[in-house]
Parts: sequence; C-alpha cells; structure tokens
Amino acid sequence: MERIVVVNFGGQYSQLIARKVRECGVYAEVLPCSASREKVSGEGLAGIVLTGGSDVASEFPRWLLELGVPVLGIDYGMQVMAIAKGGSVQRGEPCEFAHSEITYSPHPLFAGMTGEPVWMNNSVRVAKLPNGFAAIAATGQNPAAAIANDETKLYAVQFHPEVHHTKEGKKLFSNFLFTICGCTGGWSPAKLADELIAAVREQVGDAPVISALSGGVDSSVASVIVHKAIGDRLKCIFVDHGLLRHNEAREVLAFYRDNLGMDVRFVDASERFLTKLIGVTDPERKRKIIGEEFIRVFEEEARKLGGADYLVQGTIYPDIIESGSVSGGAVVKSHHNVGGLPKNVDFKGLVEPLKYLFKDEVRELGLALGIPEHLVWRQPFPGPGLAVRVVGEITREKLEIVRLSDHIFRSEIAAAGLDRSIWQYFTVHTGVRSVGVKNDARTYDSVVALRAVHTTDAMTVEVAELPYSLLRRVSSRIIAEVPGCNRVVYDITTKPPGTIEWE
Ligand code: XMP
Repeated sequence: MERIVVVNFGGQYSQLIARKVRECGVYAEVLPCSASREKVSGEGLAGIVLTGGSDVASEFPRWLLELGVPVLGIDYGMQVMAIAKGGSVQRGEPCEFAHSEITYSPHPLFAGMTGEPVWMNNSVRVAKLPNGFAAIAATGQNPAAAIANDETKLYAVQFHPEVHHTKEGKKLFSNFLFTICGCTGGWSPAKLADELIAAVREQVGDAPVISALSGGVDSSVASVIVHKAIGDRLKCIFVDHGLLRHNEAREVLAFYRDNLGMDVRFVDASERFLTKLIGVTDPERKRKIIGEEFIRVFEEEARKLGGADYLVQGTIYPDIIESGSVSGGAVVKSHHNVGGLPKNVDFKGLVEPLKYLFKDEVRELGLALGIPEHLVWRQPFPGPGLAVRVVGEITREKLEIVRLSDHIFRSEIAAAGLDRSIWQYFTVHTGVRSVGVKNDARTYDSVVALRAVHTTDAMTVEVAELPYSLLRRVSSRIIAEVPGCNRVVYDITTKPPGTIEWE
C-alpha cells in the first residue's frame, strides 16, 4: 500500500496534514521526528512531509531528504530543509501568521491553483536559497515563499496548505501526491478497519475490556472495532448520566442490543451526576466533574463484571486538539473523554482506536464495518450531554426545557428533510429569563437558543441557513408546548470565534 509519512517536529498541524493527504485517497501516517529510518522508509513509502516547530530536533535527521522519495517541507519543514541543503533562514519574533497574497510560478506543485491568499508564517523566510533550489512562489514580503529542487525532488512552502481557510491547499497536496510522488490513490478510511482491529488485539492481549458506549457514532464505531478484535471479552456499559436527550436511553439501548449483538449493561446514574452538579456553574468544572464521575461509574461496573484492564473510548482527533493535548495546542474545552480524565484512573490503559481520525473518516469506517446508516449518521452528541447546553447551574427544570425544545427542533428538522444535510442541530438553555406576555398575563421565563451548523470535522463551522418558515414553526411550537420558555433565538455564530456547544 502506498504511504505518505508526515514527520512531526511538534505543533498541531501534523494530523491535519495527514488528514488532507488521506482525503486525497492516499494513506498517510504521522511519525515523530525521532522515528527510526527503518520505520519511515518501510513498505510503500511514496513521499514525506516535514511539519511542526515546537520540538526542534537537536540535529535534523538529514537522511529524511535522502530516501529517494519526494519531500514536501511546510513552514518549519521548509526551514530545516533549506538549512540542511546549505541555504540560510532569517527568523523574526514573534511568530506572525496572516493571510497573504501569493504569486506562483508555473510549476507542477501549483497546477490548477489560481493564487487564493495563503495562510503564511511571515516571521520566517529563506534568506539564501540552498544549492540547486529555485524560488517558485512569492508574496509581497517574501520572494521565496516556496522553493523547489526538481532534480532531487525536494519541495518546500512557507505557508500552510493544510489549514481550513485555504481552499486551494487540497489541490497542492493532490499535485504533490499524484504528479510529484506518482501515487495512484484509491485509499479510503474503510481500509483502516483491519489494521485498527489488529492494533487493538495487540494492545489488549487476553485482558478483559470494557467500553463506554454513548450512543454516538464515535463510541459505537470504537466498540465495534474492539468487539471484532476480541469478541465477547468486550463488555459494554451505557450510562444514563441524567443529561441525555428525550427518550435517548431507551432508544439507544434497544438499538445496541437488537442491531449490534453486543453485551450492553445499562446503568442509571442520573441521581448521582445531578447531585454532584448542584450549584456548579463554571463550564470547565462541569466537564471535569462529569468526566471524573463517568470514570468512577465505569470502574464500579467493571468491578461488578469481574474487573477490566482496559477502557474503550471513542476519542477522535478534534477532541484531542481542543483539549490541548497536542503539543503546542491551546485548551479550548476539556472534552470529557480527554481532559476530564482524572489522573488516578483505575485501568491499565485506554483503548482509543479512532484517536487520529476525523468524524467523516469515522463515519466511512463505520459503514465499512457494517454499522447501519442511521447510527452512523446520527448527529454528534457531546459526552457531557445536556450539561454543556444548559448555561449556568443545571437544574431538572432547565434540563426538561432543553429536552422538550430539542425534541421539537429535531422532529421539525427531520420533517423538513434536513436531518442529513445539517451536521449538528440542537437547542440550548441560555440561562437567561425574559419578559413576555401570554393570555394577557406577564410571563418571566427562559430563553431557548437554536443552534444548527454545517461542518466536515467540527474544527470550523458555518451556521445553517434554515428556512424562515421552519424557524417560525419551531419557535411557535416551542413557546406553545414547552412550559417555562417564552422566547426563542437563533444562534448565528460561526466557529471560530464561537464553538458549537455553548459551554
Ligand atoms: P465544540 O463545542 O468544541 O464542539 O465546538 C465540537 C464538537 O464536539 C462535540 N463535543 C464533545 N464531544 N465530549 C464529546 O464527546 C465532549 O466533552 C464534547 N464537547 C463538545 C460537540 O457536540 C461538537 O460536535
């Protein structure tokens, strides 16, 4: 199988690059800059991408440029390549990223690219070109925004083709892969199934394993992979933390048992979670409390099942990035299956087969594993559940308002035939009360927000432009049918700067 290796010198871009390559239909994996020559140059190596910048290698492994396959250096990767090949680099402080106008020379790396602004690190530039290299792109500030040596097949760009707000980036990767590396493509996430199953077998050996099922696509796909790897040595646990949507516990449980043939134990822990959350208003504290309580419940259930060494979690890559677990990344939210984990977890380890995949890849993999479409296409639901959709203190009354309004919103979206085309849609209890009038009497009730977004991987989102007639119907139904709610607003914030969930 043809393979691209993304060599990571730190920073948070490596998995995004690997993902862009995989999107083009070529398998890509990320290896650290300390990886051995054997590991990098193994079977099927078709090309290398150098990226990163926070783990500056004491000595750049020059052999990376001498394996006989094309190399693409990105930003820091460009700097190390230029220096290793006899050029020089001028660095300014602080690091300055900006959208920059760019002009490309005619070169196969840029075929079909019209020159949309690129996301550029303007604090660094190649001051002296290495021998045999030519500058092949320029910005106003930087005459060597990209360089190439066509003979040795070494290429480098100072900008970031992998970031989301550069639309032409994917074209650059596909030029690199198909024209320069000679890849043939055709890879898809479905092809990962066997490899992931084998990796789980190797990780857990004969040990007993339990899985945290949430009803969402991530934990379901992760559990099906583990189930295929070790069969009924996997026990699944589905916890109702009291923060699920309308009728969710019943529906999800029936689904797992009837469709996936897995051994699922149901635990109603709602009292316990809601009690712990009394008086808690800070979003991060809520997340930590829920994350910790989850683990405790699992540990207890595992003991009842005779003990388990490993816990399966449906962590996917965006969860890791946003919890600040990627070196150099900032903490946006502690996703409960990553940052919310307490330090003293009573398991030998976590099994997270999806941790380098993005949501759309997980869906494709799920279908390949035979998981029914309606589960694979279920909209994502966060681990902390409605806790992150009730702003401020969580009360049963507020939860009921979210549940009923969300149920109305979801059924109207489905009735309008939009449930597949909108990535995520839900209601939020804003924590705000407003004055209204009903049957000639003053009301002072809760404000509910509607949220509906389009995205491919939850890292950046656009707001869904719902038909006004649909919004009006949803709003009047919520106000008429949900006690305690007298106003509905529509959240039209993109991500960034907003996030999808309100907390
Ligand atoms: P945000 O709000 O960070 O959400 O833009 C991105 C996506 O992740 C989901 N989300 C979570 N999923 N545990 C999860 O499993 C969490 O703690 C969590 N927080 C947010 C969110 O619903 C959206 O799809």
